[in-house]
Amino acid sequence: MSSKIEGVRAREVLDSRGNPTVEAEAWTKNSVARAMVPSGASTGVHEALELRDKDARFMGKGVAKAVSNVNKTIAKKIVGMDCTEQDAVDGFMIELDGTENKSRLGANAILSVSMAVSRLAAIEEGVPLYRHIGRLSKNKKFLLPVPSMNVLNGGVHAGNKLDIQEYMILPAGAKSFREALEISAEVYQNLKTVIKEKYGKDAINVGDEGGFAPPLSRPEEPLDLIMAAIEKAGHEKKVKLGVDAAASEFFEQDKNGRKAAKGNYVLEGVELTPGRLMERYGQMLDSYPIVSLEDAFSQDDWPAWSSFTGRYGGRVQVVGDDLLVTNVKRIEKALKEKACNTLLLKINQIGSITESIAAARLSMESGWNVMVSHRSGETEDPYIADLAVGLGAGELKAGAPCRSERTAKYNQLLRIEEELGNKAVYARMF
Ligand code: PGA
Ligand code: ZN
Repeated sequence: MSSKIEGVRAREVLDSRGNPTVEAEAWTKNSVARAMVPSGASTGVHEALELRDKDARFMGKGVAKAVSNVNKTIAKKIVGMDCTEQDAVDGFMIELDGTENKSRLGANAILSVSMAVSRLAAIEEGVPLYRHIGRLSKNKKFLLPVPSMNVLNGGVHAGNKLDIQEYMILPAGAKSFREALEISAEVYQNLKTVIKEKYGKDAINVGDEGGFAPPLSRPEEPLDLIMAAIEKAGHEKKVKLGVDAAASEFFEQDKNGRKAAKGNYVLEGVELTPGRLMERYGQMLDSYPIVSLEDAFSQDDWPAWSSFTGRYGGRVQVVGDDLLVTNVKRIEKALKEKACNTLLLKINQIGSITESIAAARLSMESGWNVMVSHRSGETEDPYIADLAVGLGAGELKAGAPCRSERTAKYNQLLRIEEELGNKAVYARMF
């Protein structure tokens, strides 16, 4: 049997922020595949555990223990298994770990192997990764996703005073992914000009996800700048907006250390109750073409989520990131509480491909949208581009059309679109 796993090996490599992460390789007699794990900065407290060494190396961020868990514990037991049986391989690693949040072996250790094994299976089957993921998730409808491109960075991803983390453009009116990418790149370059004209050439540095990070603090100002750039590029009819507030980061205390009373938020240095914050979002939705709003409230502020979704869920995607952490149990709770209507799918929040697929399927079957997502600490691995197409998710958030760890995903989508030829379908989401 040629799809028998002959070996697995991991190593410590660097991510896009210059921090260590895990890369794994898995091989059969005839093939070898490799994959790299991403890492977040505004991580949710309910995410699976990313194992870091916390010793003198790399300011405590080394992943030598996770690498050793792959090489010494996982590898031995995985050898001999069939790489096309993803459920069995992932199930085995989950059992071997034995904890609720993968804290023994590390979600980064388990995910690196899970990703590498799925890619190996695709090679063994002689199909592109997205087709293999289609098989695993029982999806036959491949879709080129609408990208959500974070063109202006704030929060913990940038050194400015903006509390809201991400301001995104969604080229939903394009006819193909290639056109979507072209439109986005043109808006991005025009945004650079708009920012330079208003704030000078010192203001065009970029943040962790490749978006500009000018010295702003008013939450609506980025939306004005982006609207000016869209107009300058002549793409008003084709581009919508998205926002990821990442509100867990300004809940009860903001990044500048300003504290609020229990249950309140701090926006632009001003304390807001969840109700007031909701009104502020409502004004934004009335004033700008926003179609997607992520993590508008903190990760355990369930009442605020439910009341926001009740009020605005009919006109905007209410996306759960820190709220859901790609975890079926939290998705089930959110369904019951009607707390959101879209899953943000991050493979390293849960730590295996099988569980990521289960989270996507439950969401889709429940009538939600699914947006596959990168992390702010990324790698050159384009895995999530294939994942988005294979799942038929219709949406992918992978940063600005700038910096190679982000464009690696978009460029992979160009290749997939080309390969699908006249069968390629660009998702109609908004
Ligand atoms: P993170 O940011 O990867 O730093 O968590 C991305 C997001 O919040 O969506
Ligand atoms: Zn988010």
